[in-house]
Amino acid sequence: MASTMLHTSLRCVNKTAGRIDHMRIQTDVSLKPFNSFGVDAHGKYFVVLKSEDEVSVFFQSEEYHALQLANRPTLLLGGGSNLLFTKDFDGLVVKNEITGVRVLEENEEAVLVEVGGGGMWHDFVVTCIEHEWGGVENLSLIPGTVGAAPVQNIGAYGVELKDVFHSLRGWDMVKQCFVEFNKEECLFGYRSSIFKTKYKNNLLITSVVFKLSNHHHKLSLDYGAIENQLIEASITQPTIKDVSTAVIQIRKSKLPDPKEIGNAGSFFKNPVVDASQLAEIKRHFPDLSAHASGAGFKIAAAWLIEQAGWKGYREGDVGCHAKQALVLVNYGGASGNGILQLSKKIQDSVYSMFGIMLEPEVNIL
Ligand code: EPU
Repeated sequence: MASTMLHTSLRCVNKTAGRIDHMRIQTDVSLKPFNSFGVDAHGKYFVVLKSEDEVSVFFQSEEYHALQLANRPTLLLGGGSNLLFTKDFDGLVVKNEITGVRVLEENEEAVLVEVGGGGMWHDFVVTCIEHEWGGVENLSLIPGTVGAAPVQNIGAYGVELKDVFHSLRGWDMVKQCFVEFNKEECLFGYRSSIFKTKYKNNLLITSVVFKLSNHHHKLSLDYGAIENQLIEASITQPTIKDVSTAVIQIRKSKLPDPKEIGNAGSFFKNPVVDASQLAEIKRHFPDLSAHASGAGFKIAAAWLIEQAGWKGYREGDVGCHAKQALVLVNYGGASGNGILQLSKKIQDSVYSMFGIMLEPEVNIL
């Protein structure tokens, strides 16, 4: 399949007609609606971009260069679902609202679909189910945008974004031009990619191309919870829609809805330990389950946190979720700093109990 990407469907800006309203830089904007923790931080400057043309016009504008000269940092904001603001952001927040789904190529087995980086991830999953495109059903209901998904290689129930990823395109903030990345170039790992390291905050992802199965699917049903959910619903020959429904049910039963209780999903990554560390922990905690991961063994951080006694803990409006200990929550008025303080207490107590330092998965600003 060819990998040529066309962008003719993206809306054009009339560069001579002056600025469109949403492209004007706003000042002192509350970021509360734009982070799933619901923390009330403010962005000094804020702009919304809705097409590739707007991206190139804006980043080459005098206004943007003036902010650069003033050494104001830039934050590229997706759905804000993996972010913790611990203070106001003293620079420019760029909100990507480039949407749209377009079929690039299609045959009986596969379809190549290009998706705007600013669209919501779950809306894209719903579109896939409607069109009988398979591969993302296990990733149903993950909050955040399509463009943010490759940054941390989102994953759930046995599937990771890299399994369906083809390529992406974005604005390189240093080179000041559009660039493309194929799968190898993204250096995907467990909740990581080159966009979290070398390209951190340096690439505004305008579109992502996925390679999905077309009508004939290979389902990933190995994850115990999915199997159980399908058995409970008496489904023996599941469709991608059945799998998506099962995943939605599992997520709703365990994970708090950010619209009701502020949270950013898993706060920490699941740690990987070596064989001797695992044996030592198992000597004291024989119940611990771990599975091989690369050169080591991955342990459930939620289990460690639960053993350390934090599951269901609440202190004012900050808490550790009662149904999934890996999720820290804001019950309403928590500050980013309050959430950060609780995360540190959890890290300390897990470290003193197991000798493992949990690493945040959430981006802390
Ligand atoms: N567990 C506990 N206590 C808890 C919750 C879970 O002991 O409070 C144990 C369970 O018994 C289970 C194990 O931990 O054996 C794993 O739990 P779960 O299946 O819920 O998955 P997880 O490892 O905690 C990861 C992802 C989630 C993803 C789920 C399902 C990370 C950091 N998190 O969580 O992703 O939904 O698997 O695949 O890898 C996210 O990244 O924001 C996220 C929610």
